[in-house]
Amino acid sequence: MNKSDATMEKLVSLCKRRGFIFQSSEIYGGLNSCWDYGPLGVELKKNVKEQWWKSVVQSRDDMAGLDASILMHPHVWEASGHIDSFSDPLVDCKSCKRRFRADHLKEQKCPECGGELTDERQFNLMFKTFMGPVEDSQATVYLRPETAQGIFVNFKNVQASARMKVPFGIAQIGKSFRNEITPGNFTFRTREFEQMEIEFFVKPGTDTEWYEYWREERLNWYIKLGIKKEKLRLRDHEQDELAHYAKACADVEFLFPIGWSELEGIANRTDFDLTQHSKRSGKDLHYFSEETNEKFIPYVIEPSAGVDRSTLAFLADSYVEEEDRTVLKLDPRLAPIKVAIFPLSKKGGLLERAKKLESGLRKFYTTFFDEKGSIGRRYRRQDEIGTPYGITIDFDTMENGTVTLRDRDTMEQIRISEEKVAEEIGQRIAGLPD
Ligand code: GLY
Repeated sequence: MNKSDATMEKLVSLCKRRGFIFQSSEIYGGLNSCWDYGPLGVELKKNVKEQWWKSVVQSRDDMAGLDASILMHPHVWEASGHIDSFSDPLVDCKSCKRRFRADHLKEQKCPECGGELTDERQFNLMFKTFMGPVEDSQATVYLRPETAQGIFVNFKNVQASARMKVPFGIAQIGKSFRNEITPGNFTFRTREFEQMEIEFFVKPGTDTEWYEYWREERLNWYIKLGIKKEKLRLRDHEQDELAHYAKACADVEFLFPIGWSELEGIANRTDFDLTQHSKRSGKDLHYFSEETNEKFIPYVIEPSAGVDRSTLAFLADSYVEEEDRTVLKLDPRLAPIKVAIFPLSKKGGLLERAKKLESGLRKFYTTFFDEKGSIGRRYRRQDEIGTPYGITIDFDTMENGTVTLRDRDTMEQIRISEEKVAEEIGQRIAGLPD
């Protein structure tokens, strides 16, 4: 790692100071593993989700979107295997009472105090709650641990209403919850998190081909949005790592400041989920192909990405400390603020002229107006939050209607007419790889 690269401490500090991410309930001392996205963070995260949606839904003719509810019928989790199998091995320290994931420990003693550990037992990761006023087992519901099941139970609804033909996918973005034994590393492992999931339904026998396709497709998405190739890799799961539903799985991993860690899993879930739901609900979830007169339960390839993890990866990868500035070299499509507007002086009508320009630009872009401090300092403040373009209104603007347009990464400036600057920015953004 270079000295100028991001460390987790530097990222946490920048995120808090500039309003990307705050600790949840901070004034009460915080809530472990919960984080709030501030004014810049919410824009960045929204842009990550928008780019994903654009790439996997809007630009394809074989994908449909969905937004299912978080609370689902409890039978869903019986059928999916989550009640029986969605657990991690837990051990307690007999001295300090801390809890650990047994499979994360290097030694058979407490990593905090060296104390003796209990025997391993399985700990179910689903959060339980009660629906309605009565707290009994009949009323138990779960906060979904994956958005995927909302897709499986809607397979027929979506397929029939959108008249989709296999192969096709259903994509969804939404919150999920897992009562992780050891959350941590900022927003990397949290108990409440957001997923971007695709369930791609294919004819049995073509599943391996589609699995290969989605592995490459998803890896490339991160590269096209600017993450350095050498910081990404695909790692195949060992047989003993596979989830209870998967025949094969590969992780897209990113070299986070904490080391190589998962950004997204691409799994071959076979016909496991649809078969299980068919059995438990008694509803026929076969697909009938009119072209070939075949009836089958589709196999499913699932690219499942973490929104919070991707957002953290985009932040970590783009963070650079240069000689006299810190820059987030975020892809302009992801940058929370696209363009900053700086009147060089408050005098001579420059302030009013800059405000007018900003109000025109706001129709297309997120903007930030800054009239305070030296122009150099104003540029630096925007560099640090990843704003790709800066416009300065100076005395020449009043004479000839031109402004300077500065590029964050090269720091090059051009003079351009006020009327053309919105279009120029649009062209620069449109020129980025799809
Ligand atoms: N749906 C896969 C996962 O949540 O990990």
